[in-house]
Amino acid sequence: MAERCTEIFCSESDLQEMIRRLGEQITRDYADQEIYVIGILKGSFVFMADLVRAIDRPMKIDFMSVSSYGDATVSSGEINIRKDTDGDIKGKHVLIVEDIIDTGITMQSLIRILMEREPLDIRVCAAFDKPSRRVVEVNIDYIGKQIPDAFIVGYGLDYAERYRNLPHVSVLEIYGGDQ
Ligand code: IMP
Ligand code: MG
Repeated sequence: MAERCTEIFCSESDLQEMIRRLGEQITRDYADQEIYVIGILKGSFVFMADLVRAIDRPMKIDFMSVSSYGDATVSSGEINIRKDTDGDIKGKHVLIVEDIIDTGITMQSLIRILMEREPLDIRVCAAFDKPSRRVVEVNIDYIGKQIPDAFIVGYGLDYAERYRNLPHVSVLEIYGGDQ
């Protein structure tokens, strides 16, 4: 198997515009509230760094790292917490920041786990959303950009841990054979 980046799906200026819009929306919606922002590693790290600087509200910043149990292609619907938050979210306005929502299974499980910790509320902000791939219902409050069923990389998103450093988002074509 090999892969190559094909067309640019989001340029750096598209991403800047997306961040500006999300930052304004979130700033407006959290008037007079401190936000407890949780970035989901590793995919959200670039998006998170841009997003928090576009939000004009007091906030605390934390990170979690989660992975699906078992076979990656057939999700069991359970997630494994690799790194938990450092702080307690009880009584907080939690904003989860994720790179992309695909089947929705990761986010659904994560919300279920975090709700048990009694936050005041939980909202979700995802840079990208693939609604056509959804297998479970999950409410995404802030979406940067909806995408068709393609595999994208860059701006934090990876393919086998590569391409996270691309400053734009590209569609990745994966092919077999010796090309
Ligand atoms: P879900 O549980 O199926 O919604 O999986 C979401 C996770 O799958 C994301 O956090 C990404 O790590 C990964 N993922 C899904 N689609 C893509 C993609 O197009 N590019 C890179 N990673 C993806
Ligand atoms: Mg990934």
